[in-house]
Amino acid sequence: MKVLIAGGAGFIGSTVASACLDDGIVPVVLDNLVTGRGEFVRERIFYQGDIADGALVDKIFAEHPDIDAVVHAAAMIVVPESVEHPLRYYRENVAKSVEFVEHVLRNRCSRYLFSSSASIYRPGEDLSVDETSPLEPLSPYARTKVVMEQMLADCAHAYDLRVLSLRYFNPVGADPLLRTGLQTRHPSHLLGKLVTAVEEDEEFLLTGVDWPTRDGSAIRDFIHVWDLAEAHVRALRRFDAILPPGGEDPYQVINLGTGHGTTVREFVAAFQAVCEKPLRVRETGPRPGDSVGCYTRSERARELLDWTARFSIADAVRHSLRWAEVRDTVLPA
Ligand SMILES: NC(=O)c1ccc[n+]([C@@H]2O[C@H](COP(=O)([O-])OP(=O)(O)OC[C@H]3O[C@@H](n4cnc5c(N)ncnc54)[C@H](O)[C@@H]3O)[C@@H](O)[C@H]2O)c1
Repeated sequence: MKVLIAGGAGFIGSTVASACLDDGIVPVVLDNLVTGRGEFVRERIFYQGDIADGALVDKIFAEHPDIDAVVHAAAMIVVPESVEHPLRYYRENVAKSVEFVEHVLRNRCSRYLFSSSASIYRPGEDLSVDETSPLEPLSPYARTKVVMEQMLADCAHAYDLRVLSLRYFNPVGADPLLRTGLQTRHPSHLLGKLVTAVEEDEEFLLTGVDWPTRDGSAIRDFIHVWDLAEAHVRALRRFDAILPPGGEDPYQVINLGTGHGTTVREFVAAFQAVCEKPLRVRETGPRPGDSVGCYTRSERARELLDWTARFSIADAVRHSLRWAEVRDTVLPA
């Protein structure tokens, strides 16, 4: 089996590529390296360029006519940046994706896995969601995901295309074999900030302690990036069983999370239990745009993919700390 991974030099795409390789699936990576890293594709089949570049996509399919499926993980992903520069986000995440889908269709590839996001949900009262929960995307970034999902569903009904939209919850950790990890030195999400705080002996700000959760801090569904990557392998292997050719509905959504909510305080405690260095925590109010969060009920992933997350938060912390130690060697500045 061979799979084209758009965005395969990024954090998630490169991990998916490693999981594919480990399972005997050959990844072919297309990435413009806007945030991805050449080091992550060094010994892999790699085409540097944009998903909107039709000539390049044609060249890839001409050189690899045996590509069975596409994983579309290429996107811009920084929420505050999307608020400041919405046009850039609609151009990169939507307009270019319209082009890309057209290129994929022209090359007669009919299996499409899309990287969507849990940030599109409106959580219910108990803060859990499933694939049927109402949507309420609160940022331009999240809205680009909703537009993309709707566009892909329309295309799946109109053309020879079957689409699995995978809604990721909160990816954490790094490849346990440390081939890849977060490429940024100062990541803006929780675990990244905790690692930075201990690495650089800074205070960690626990923002928002009055949310309607068991301990007042926000809740998330933290999923180890390797579990996420393995779910893609399952989705690729089972694609035709989940979405049979000529089937009634050629579009399906699957949430990828652990099925458990973890509060920020609980996460910080898990971090402190693993990390030997001291952590100074200061509690403050929420930042603008913060939300209470949600976690998924994961029956559909279990049923369709025969998959559940197996790594713990402690594993993710351990792998992230180890990645932080080797990151500057793997990715010199
Ligand atoms: N990281 C998260 O917390 C998270 C959560 C939910 C969903 N997602 C989704 O997962 C996907 C991957 O995210 P990530 O965390 O790996 O981000 P990332 O920035 O590490 O990876 C994105 C990759 O896409 C490439 N890219 C961007 N625009 C491109 C274009 N026009 N043409 C070719 N390549 C392009 C970048 O160079 C990068 O390698 C994205 O679609 C993102 O929206 C991420």
